[in-house]
Amino acid sequence: MSAVVTWPTEGIAFGGDYNPEQWDWDVLLEDVELMREAGVGFVTVGVFSWIKHEPRDGAFDFDWLDRVLDLLHENGIRVDLATPTASVPMWLHRLHPEILPQDAHGHPLAPGGRLGFCPSSTVFRRYALRVVEALAAHVAGHPAVRLWHVSNELGGGNARCHCPVSEAAFQSWVEARHGTVEALNTAWGTAFWGNSYSSFDEVTTPRGITAHNPGQLLDYERFSSDALLDCYRAEAAVLRRVTPEVPVTTNFMVGLGPDVVDYPRWADEVDIVVNDHYTYGPDPMKHQELAFAGDRMRGISGGGPWLLMEHATGGSTWHPVSQPKGPGELVRHALGHVARGSDSVMYFQWRASRSGTEQFHSAMLPHSGPESRTFRQIVALGADLARLAEVAGSRVVGARVALLHDDEAGWALRSGHKPAVRLDYATTARAVHAALFERSVTVDVVPPWHPLDDYDLVVVPGLFLVDDTTPAAVAAAAERGATVLVTWFSGIVDETNSVRTGGHPGAFRDLLGVRGDDFWPLDETEVVELDTGWRARRWTEHVTATTAEVVASYTTGGVSGGAAVTRRPVGSGSAWYLASDLEPAGLGELVDRLLDEVGISPAAATSPGVEAVRRASDEGSWLFVLNHAESEGWAEVAGTDLLTGAVCAGRVVVPAGGVAVVREACP
Ligand code: GLA
Ligand code: GLA
Repeated sequence: MSAVVTWPTEGIAFGGDYNPEQWDWDVLLEDVELMREAGVGFVTVGVFSWIKHEPRDGAFDFDWLDRVLDLLHENGIRVDLATPTASVPMWLHRLHPEILPQDAHGHPLAPGGRLGFCPSSTVFRRYALRVVEALAAHVAGHPAVRLWHVSNELGGGNARCHCPVSEAAFQSWVEARHGTVEALNTAWGTAFWGNSYSSFDEVTTPRGITAHNPGQLLDYERFSSDALLDCYRAEAAVLRRVTPEVPVTTNFMVGLGPDVVDYPRWADEVDIVVNDHYTYGPDPMKHQELAFAGDRMRGISGGGPWLLMEHATGGSTWHPVSQPKGPGELVRHALGHVARGSDSVMYFQWRASRSGTEQFHSAMLPHSGPESRTFRQIVALGADLARLAEVAGSRVVGARVALLHDDEAGWALRSGHKPAVRLDYATTARAVHAALFERSVTVDVVPPWHPLDDYDLVVVPGLFLVDDTTPAAVAAAAERGATVLVTWFSGIVDETNSVRTGGHPGAFRDLLGVRGDDFWPLDETEVVELDTGWRARRWTEHVTATTAEVVASYTTGGVSGGAAVTRRPVGSGSAWYLASDLEPAGLGELVDRLLDEVGISPAAATSPGVEAVRRASDEGSWLFVLNHAESEGWAEVAGTDLLTGAVCAGRVVVPAGGVAVVREACP
């Protein structure tokens, strides 16, 4: 990220997407009154307003926007102003039907939703930049406008386009990456099935009748991410030229990954990293998934604060079931993001829509109005966040564990046939993270190129693709004393998605002191036992310990007697290999051994089910304590709970489902 010109918010910003175009003016007057009651001070406006700003080709009209911005400003509410390019107006679709993206069958998608454009379309780009320039010039200097929000969730629907324009752009991208056709043929291994190319214009987007080349599939994912990044860059350049004082961002969709675009590689392009995050009601571990996303956001933001741009007060109707939040969840989820580095709590959306695709999506102000369970909780949350203002600007501290995560590895894993079909990327990462989360151990989820000097435990979970620098960096960490854990199906392919031969896991084989020759995946019903009493599912492999010691062996299954967990002393540290997918109990015991080896302790001692994370700055430190259990819990901490004013001398007691944020007493 470039340096932030001016941070757009104060304290912990509170608000959400605001879509006033759906309502009459008297409703807007009620909106600002209720926003004030709730303490809302920051809203995202104009995400879908292109047709408002430009009702006809080239005819701009910003009167409505002016009235909205003035109304918000008069009520002390700051604005994150969106460029409206996610919502292509119908007149543009009629003028230029060729801008619609095409699916893999060559069918143009129909207008009427959003993001109805091919990311590589120069025609779309011309119209998009024209409205962005007119909008920026018009609002320049308006005191309410504090942040630019480019488009909306770029790639959320149009990420993989197969139209002729995209195909030509893909050919150019492939040529720029590989240089010569010979290099391309080598990289993709096109000798297989006789798919060699003679010129770049023979290359297509992957939409063939049989399974595709893994190198081509992976490059198409990279290309698609780059095409969308170009859309962002083009708009950001206009905004930075016209309103250089206003920071620019675009809302990411960081979750478990792999994501639709490569956010860690986009991070340098935005002034502030912002995220949209949605939990799934029936997921019993949704708070841990939220924590994983927050820990990733920090890895993407370089450790500094980020903004939560959207989440939900209840369900999302794009989920199979859209459930409200359970007791205390609304606050726990909001503060779960703040605990992990967000300086805002924002929602989609302020007022629930009556019509349109998301008419039953949860909102801060539901259909039933202010006399509702949700709005009362929102008002209470606004008051809580006001009490936490002093936390803003601080950073999450104490992470001695790095967990390496890379979208490219995830894309490579889903590109082409693999030894098993249920190999979702990030499943192992999430499992290890869950074990650490349950122990209140703070983890930075970082891209593989992140410096590892500050970490004592480095986890490489299912990192299927690595370049040559990552194994060297991981080995260097072990040499200087870190404990390293590499898990199964890591380091298997290089950047071209070609297998590293000579024994698995190719890139980490020497560091780990093992040599695997057969993967032995399991079907859904199979479970194997280990001599430690642990159990594994999904994956085993035939591994020989060459220079490592065997920590655990299989006692059942096709590789019975073989190594399942190994350890090799390396320099002042060690390198562990986990060759199977352990069930949580065994994985937890393994994680305990790793933490013991390097002496990593939790952010605070807690009762079971209590999450503890620390933020700190020159001004002080704050322990966030979130009780996800159904009974009273505690954390060891001395200080003052900002939410209740209670002084805790050594222990804070938190009711079932409750939260405390303790400003810690100076030692
Ligand atoms: C068929 C094909 C081969 C190969 C194998 C793989 O038999 O003829 O080219 O794809 O399947 O199982
Ligand atoms: C995304 C979008 C919003 C809305 C929400 C609904 O985050 O950015 O416009 O569609 O999803 O969950």
